[in-house]
Amino acid sequence: MASFSLKVNGKKMEVDVSPDTPLLWVLRDTLGLTGTKYGCGIAQCGACTVHLDGHAVRSCSLPVSAVKEGTVVTIEGLSDKGDHPVQLAWQSVDVPQCGYCQSGQIMSAAALLKTHPSPTDAEIDAAMAGNICRCGTYKRIRKAIHEAANQGSEQ
Ligand code: FES
Ligand code: FES
Repeated sequence: MASFSLKVNGKKMEVDVSPDTPLLWVLRDTLGLTGTKYGCGIAQCGACTVHLDGHAVRSCSLPVSAVKEGTVVTIEGLSDKGDHPVQLAWQSVDVPQCGYCQSGQIMSAAALLKTHPSPTDAEIDAAMAGNICRCGTYKRIRKAIHEAANQGSEQ
């Protein structure tokens, strides 16, 4: 066991865990942030996607010891009231089916829009390729990302 001081969703959190514990389990089990989901555990599905210093990362495959001074944002911290442009577009397009993959999808989409405020279909497909949806909501995801991009450019 070791102590780690993490910055999660704008707050400092002290955790006492084994250094090789994946960040996902620290978020879910230690900190109770269960919006981030477990899918495959081997960085292949994207269900566990969070932001580390603004970049989308797979928290299932990131040891907590690798986070260091990094800033972590989970779906719970993406916006104060669920009103991030991506979240609003997700609602307006009614993207989710079962919902399980969707927090990871939203986090990947939000990271994409930071670097590509007006992404093309190809850029969306490339950025979202690591996020699997067993319900096949891909068309609505793409539509919602375009809608979020438009909202962002109107702000
Ligand atoms: S649970 Fe992390 S990528 Fe699948
Ligand atoms: S909405 Fe069911 S897995 Fe994506």
